[in-house]
This record gives sequence, C-alpha cells and structure tokens, in this order.
Amino acid sequence: MSEYQDFLPLNGTDYIELYVGNAKQAAHFYKTAFGFQSLAYSGPETGVKDRVSYVLVQNKMRLMLTTPLHSDSPIAQHHLKHGDGVKTLALMVDDAYDAYLQTTQRGGKSYMEPQTISDENGEVKLSGIHTYGEVVHVFVERKNYNGVFMPGFRKWESNYNPTETGLLYVDHCVGNVDWNQMNPWVKFYEDVMGFKNILSFDDNDISTEYSALMSKVMSNGNGYVKFPINEPAEGKRKSQVEEYLDFYEGEGTQHIAIATNDIVKTVKELMSRGVDFLQVPSSYYDDLLDRVGPIEEDIEPLKELGILVDRDDEGYLLQLFTKPVEDRPTMFYEIIQRKGAKSFGKGNFKALFEAIEREQANRGNL
Ligand code: FE2
Repeated sequence: MSEYQDFLPLNGTDYIELYVGNAKQAAHFYKTAFGFQSLAYSGPETGVKDRVSYVLVQNKMRLMLTTPLHSDSPIAQHHLKHGDGVKTLALMVDDAYDAYLQTTQRGGKSYMEPQTISDENGEVKLSGIHTYGEVVHVFVERKNYNGVFMPGFRKWESNYNPTETGLLYVDHCVGNVDWNQMNPWVKFYEDVMGFKNILSFDDNDISTEYSALMSKVMSNGNGYVKFPINEPAEGKRKSQVEEYLDFYEGEGTQHIAIATNDIVKTVKELMSRGVDFLQVPSSYYDDLLDRVGPIEEDIEPLKELGILVDRDDEGYLLQLFTKPVEDRPTMFYEIIQRKGAKSFGKGNFKALFEAIEREQANRGNL
C-alpha cells in the first residue's frame, strides 16, 4: 500500500435528517410502512423552541424527521422551497474537531463550527460542512456518549411499535446536481473529503430512448460511505434528473439505498404495508439467467415482487426502487441486497429508466 493516509476516517452514516412538513405524521409513516422504531425526540418539551425532531432507528440506520414550529424558521424556508427532503447526511467520526479542520482547510464551507454538547450520559462532539444544494454533512463523534441519541433528545417511548422489515444500514446516498455540476462535486469529494471516484457512468451507459443522465460514484477510504453524484444529460425528452431538479427546485438527495439480508422478505413486508415500488415488465425475467448467470434465489418470487438482479466481477446484487415518497417527484428509496457485487446495478438501468419514464409520462413531465 502507498503512504496515503485517510485524513477523514469515517465509520459510516450516523443519521440522515429529513426536513418535512409534519414530522409527527412522517414518523408514523416510517414506522408503519418501513418498520422503523421510535428512538428519540426533541422539541419544546426538551428545551428546543423552534423545531420538533423525531429520531427513528432500524438496526444500524437512524432517520431524523424535523419540522419547524414557525414560518420565520430557516427550516420553514427550506420546506417551502423543496418540500420534504434530506437536509443532513451525518457521518460517524472518531474526532469531529479534526474532521472539521481537515475539511475546511481543504476548502469545505463551514456549516457548524465544532462544538461539544453534554448531558448526564456523556458528551457528543459535532461539526459540519456544506455539500451540494442545501444538503450538509454533520460529523458526529459519539464515543463518549451512552444516552439514547444525543444531548437535547429524550427517549421516545411509544405504544405503537410495528415490527421491523429487515432494513439494516445505509448502503449509499445519491445526489442529483445541476447541468455540468457533476465534476465539480466529484472534485469536492476528492479534495475536501478524500473520497475516490470508484465508478463512472456516462450517457451511453445510462440512456433510454428519452431519458439520460451521467453518474460518478464517490467512496471514502474504507467504502463505508458512498455517494454517487448524478447530473442530467441531453436526451430526446426531459431527463429524470432534470425532473427532480425542477420539482425539488434545486440540487438535493435523490435516493437513499438501504441494505437488507433478505430482499424477498423485506420487499414483501414493505409492499404489504403500502410502500409503492417501480415495476419493470415481466419480460425482464424471461432472459434474466442468461444475463446474470446462476443465482441462489428462485426466480418466481423475484418476478412476483419485481426485484431486479445484476452481476459484476465480484458477485451479484438484488435491488428494487420505491416510487417517490412525497407528492413531488423527488426523493425515493432503494432496497438492496449484495451478494458479493460492489456495483450499483448498471445492467438494470435501461429497464429501470423505462419504468421511471412511464411514471414521468403519467405526470406529464416527459
Ligand atoms: Fe442506488
């Protein structure tokens, strides 16, 4: 190995925060539909006057839902412009002060100066920088904290506790950026955060008759944190990334991919709880094994649920995408099970994008 030293060691995703119109109701949706569990709460009762936040957990994934309490809050401005969407992709670090120093001295724009917050359960150190759009990265150092989430939050006890659906952790989070902005953001992740570009897709890989996009996958040193960055490309009609940018009114997080160990079971469960998925035509399965080679799963349940399969040099993966989870055609989720493959399902792009285009056409946006 080279003498390269990772100046920003990351231990994974700490939490993802969405700004939403009604956190109380959104929390109910994520519990009911996705099987998240109640974890922590902050709001007026805990001394926070301008907002309410609910934190939900499922295995290693934490989701925070935040709503402003007044119209003059910057959170309200964010929601007015974007609708529901990701504000914070928080990353777990051993040293939040050093993470801030390393990234800001390399050109990262400060969002939160390093600070230490504490309560009777210990202390958490936080800092943060801006990334694409209005999204931010908060660095969380929690090694000296034993409480339920972090100071300022109390345990959220609920009488309503639907079972989990097998979601395990955040596999990757994809950002949609503006025309000609993919490379500048790739450079940001390289220069400011020490990430590497591990995969690239151009519009020849990712184009259907109409829709086109380009994508580069950025990964940190240990591969725990992966951020593919998409930009629209010229096609006959409007790119799906452009539709997102129009409706989100700017750059933002397009999808969050969540890992499972049993995608058939997880997807069956999610569907029965009302999560809507993109569907490919059943002809997708006719020559599936010719395309991906032998797989351990039976084809029938995959076909029944519409689960997609792709293979790379290292193995295969199974994946499926939800429809947007808001009324604006913006953020959605991916459910992914990796069986060796470290890629992102390039072989499914065509079938998938045709499915997305059918949805776009239904909205009159193609
Ligand atoms: Fe993905």
